[in-house]
Amino acid sequence: MACSKLRLICFSPTRTTRRILDAVAEGIGAEDLTVCDVTKDEGIAVDLNCTKDDLVIIGSPVYAGRLPAIVLDRLKSLKGDGVPVVTVVVYGNRAYEDALLELTDLAEAAGFKPVGAAAFIGEHSYSTKVTPVAMGRPDAVDIEKAKSFGKELAANFVSNTLPIGTKLKVPGNAPYKERVHREVVTPFSQEDCELCGACERVCPTGAITVGSDVITDSDNCILCCACVKVCTYDSRKMEVPRILEISKWLATNCVERREPEIFVS
Ligand SMILES: Cc1cc2nc3c(=O)[nH]c(=O)nc-3n(C[C@H](O)[C@H](O)[C@H](O)COP(=O)(O)O)c2cc1C
Repeated sequence: MACSKLRLICFSPTRTTRRILDAVAEGIGAEDLTVCDVTKDEGIAVDLNCTKDDLVIIGSPVYAGRLPAIVLDRLKSLKGDGVPVVTVVVYGNRAYEDALLELTDLAEAAGFKPVGAAAFIGEHSYSTKVTPVAMGRPDAVDIEKAKSFGKELAANFVSNTLPIGTKLKVPGNAPYKERVHREVVTPFSQEDCELCGACERVCPTGAITVGSDVITDSDNCILCCACVKVCTYDSRKMEVPRILEISKWLATNCVERREPEIFVS
């Protein structure tokens, strides 16, 4: 039997995770596809209205080798009810460490049955023209790999060989690595800012207010850089000393291209 209903659930401020999930979904080719994008806090339906013959894919970026804390919050009311799930993390070509395990554990604890998992690469949130890190990824090759992962999942569905009942093994360690303290910095808007409001609209936490100038609430900013990437005037920058230091380190040490990894048992 083919997968009839597919539900995508994702958090993706700079859209790389979302692009990977869309490509996996395209590969699966389900008749009924619903996307629950929790990037902007629109809440998640507690009842996904799925059965054990359907499939859910959950995607998140990697922040400091873990899931962003906000993802745990946005997904806290998720209920799996035995529905098969595929977990996907997207990271910026450094490392995903415990994030895939954390997401898979989260899904299992919510009652899903993990049947597949993957780690893909997306342009690093801190990547700039001067300090490029995985610039332009996911690229065409990544998207093709995501589609073939989807096709593989669909084929397993048809042949009824989804590994339900076997414990899916994914890399990572528990207890997970300690969360690092968030830097108390935020991106800023330069004087040439047109006050168009795009940064305010895209911010996942409502940390930006655009009026006669741009105010950024550092308590709510999660440093996702969605505001920087969306700014068509190139006015919004994350060029504060501590982040510049990290960007330079990444651009020097994370040059070698990492490839997507796929796990099905
Ligand atoms: C606060 C923060 C921490 C990050 N930590 C990591 C990390 O530990 N390893 C890594 O390779 N990339 C890391 N990244 C990069 C993101 O995982 C990567 O850019 C991802 O593609 C962003 O996903 P999105 O486009 O769905 O928002 C980090 C990004 C941010 C903003």
